[in-house]
Amino acid sequence: MKHVLLTVVFLGIACVAMAHELLSPNGNLKLNVVLDSEGGPVYSLYYKGEPVVEPSALGILMEEADLSNGFRILDATNSTFDETWMPVWGEYEKVRNHYNELTVTLSQPAKHDRMMIVRFRLFDDGLGFRYELPEQKTMNYLTVKDELTEFNLTGNHTLYCIPGDYDTNEFAYTTAAISEVREAMERNLRKKGYEAKATSFTVQTPLMIKTTEGLYINIHEAALVDYSAMLLNVDDKEFNFSAHLTPDKLGKKGYLQLPLHTPWRTIMVSDDARSILASQLILNLNEPCKLEDTSWIKPQKFIGVWWEMFTGGGGTWAYSDYYKAKPGITDYSKLTPNGHHPANTEHVKEYIDFAAENGIDAVLVEGWNEGWENGGGYLKERVFSFTKAYPDFDVEGLHRYASSKGVKIIMHHETYSTASDYERQLHDAFHFMVDNGYDAVKTGYVGRLIPRSEYHDSQWMVNHYLYVVKTAADYKIMVNSHEAVRPTGVYRTYPNWIAQESARGTEFESFNDGIRPDHTTILPFTRLMGGPMDYTPGIFEGDLSTYGSNKRKRSSTLVKQLALYVTIYSPIQMAADLIENYKRYPEPFQFIKDVAVDWDKTDILEAEPGDYITIARKAKGKNEWFVGAITDENARTATIPFDFLPDGKKYIATIYEDGKDADWEKNPQSYHIFKAVVTNKSVLKQKLARSGGAAISIVEATGEEGLRGLKKIK
Ligand code: NOJ
Ligand code: CA
Repeated sequence: MKHVLLTVVFLGIACVAMAHELLSPNGNLKLNVVLDSEGGPVYSLYYKGEPVVEPSALGILMEEADLSNGFRILDATNSTFDETWMPVWGEYEKVRNHYNELTVTLSQPAKHDRMMIVRFRLFDDGLGFRYELPEQKTMNYLTVKDELTEFNLTGNHTLYCIPGDYDTNEFAYTTAAISEVREAMERNLRKKGYEAKATSFTVQTPLMIKTTEGLYINIHEAALVDYSAMLLNVDDKEFNFSAHLTPDKLGKKGYLQLPLHTPWRTIMVSDDARSILASQLILNLNEPCKLEDTSWIKPQKFIGVWWEMFTGGGGTWAYSDYYKAKPGITDYSKLTPNGHHPANTEHVKEYIDFAAENGIDAVLVEGWNEGWENGGGYLKERVFSFTKAYPDFDVEGLHRYASSKGVKIIMHHETYSTASDYERQLHDAFHFMVDNGYDAVKTGYVGRLIPRSEYHDSQWMVNHYLYVVKTAADYKIMVNSHEAVRPTGVYRTYPNWIAQESARGTEFESFNDGIRPDHTTILPFTRLMGGPMDYTPGIFEGDLSTYGSNKRKRSSTLVKQLALYVTIYSPIQMAADLIENYKRYPEPFQFIKDVAVDWDKTDILEAEPGDYITIARKAKGKNEWFVGAITDENARTATIPFDFLPDGKKYIATIYEDGKDADWEKNPQSYHIFKAVVTNKSVLKQKLARSGGAAISIVEATGEEGLRGLKKIK
């Protein structure tokens, strides 16, 4: 470590402080840490010699203690770490965790030597740092007023972002220069008639940034545990960002007790957008798996009694038309069925049959349980029961039926954000699941919270989501949470947290303010940085007016829906459309049947946020590969080199491409499927329609026989 000498005036006493420097293992990133003239810790970050983050403040303001200045550096130590570990499931069979660490121990001499450690980990693809407060005599309980961490950027860069909000992240993305972003974001919000909840000018993380020099930066956090989620305040004149922690409704941003550490703040940097998508930094900053037995955690595909509640065809979660009309129902046996309640035994059996016939692992059923008539958490009474089924849903019979066909049913717990009531019912709910053969639950937190003193992203709720996941693990239950706080890699520690929604997903294809063609080219750079997304792709019928009142058109071609199974990573993937649409399109459905959900290796072939993504992945433990390529509203030609395949062999690629005349607006259903011979020298120039895509499945050729008559890709 180089030492740069700086003169610092500290509490009136001139003293000499050292700037501490740290290099990433390959030397591309350099971190600099120093105390300013007030004794406040300041860091800066350089990439290949150029500044990426200019001197930026560190510190936390507690109600009981100001931990942002008056420090001196007691100690600064360097170390190196290099380890390869194997995730329970993931995009890679092995993950290398290689960083250089700088631990800076600070103390406040004027405040009884109060102590704070800032730990920095510098990887080849970015920086993580966190605050640690070891046990000490002069501090114990703390209330967070503000975290003061800054990210001072170097210019008027382009942001790919959603507005700050304490309750939701289901926004359309805005792409704009920092100086323009406020107006552009407000324009997007007004279109939706939606008012963001955070009053100051904030954006959410993961925040994707492209600098005026063409560097890619991503700011997020890792291991968000027992702390509130971080938004970023935006200074659009100085291009400075700073932490904005989600408060509770008393305005408190966290209740802490020593010893403690905060989540990691993360800054990824690269001159190649592909490295941002390939980065494992956030996972590496999370704790290793804490579950001893993980054999019951299974990546899987599922279909669901679901989309028919969105298509406009009349399906309801509720059993009766009491829905919204007469809140306060207590005796569900007296309800009159409305005749369009898809979560009924016969219909669920059709889904189970279809799953069994097509090798789909599971069927999600929404609207199976009592409570939907009460209109949800907008009302004051307790709403859902997680152990009582509607009269037309035969829990035991369906358990027997599904087991006989080798299919699982996925439980649905929509809470309407009645989080405390959910906690009260949790053990009963999980017992009920185990008794009836369920091993996965989709949870939901639609609406504003009950208890009303919290937000979706405040500390109490962050703890709630994890409490549900940990409790679920005791029952060997996988959790796929919707409307929960956006992920920060905690699934490394609790891999039964199999996916989350936490962003605008496919359901918005049915809403007026829908999905834009570029949305899925931004999600992997933003929301997915923290973990897998239950995006629920696979909508084959592109025109919702087919079903009735709703006039929305899907935002992509049919083939792009296939490509999303590869470009949007998740170990649990839904085939979201109605089974009747899969029956209408058996040829493209073959790709969904074939595509893997767990991977040995991932190669990001092409990527540009907001424009396009092409990814190749190798199925876990199998000689099968899948490629997905997607584009935004512009048609383009993807370049797909097959050098991710082992050398010296021939392979058969089944290529699902947009038809010649395909176009997401004018001709979204047009597709073409063909087989071709490829080797690891082949390079395919693949045309993608406007908001189109391509999906490829690849197997080893078993002999020359099967190759006859097939096109060869050079
Ligand atoms: C919102 C979820 O994202 C969606 O998938 C679910 O069907 C509804 N809430 C109802 O729970
Ligand atoms: Ca949702």
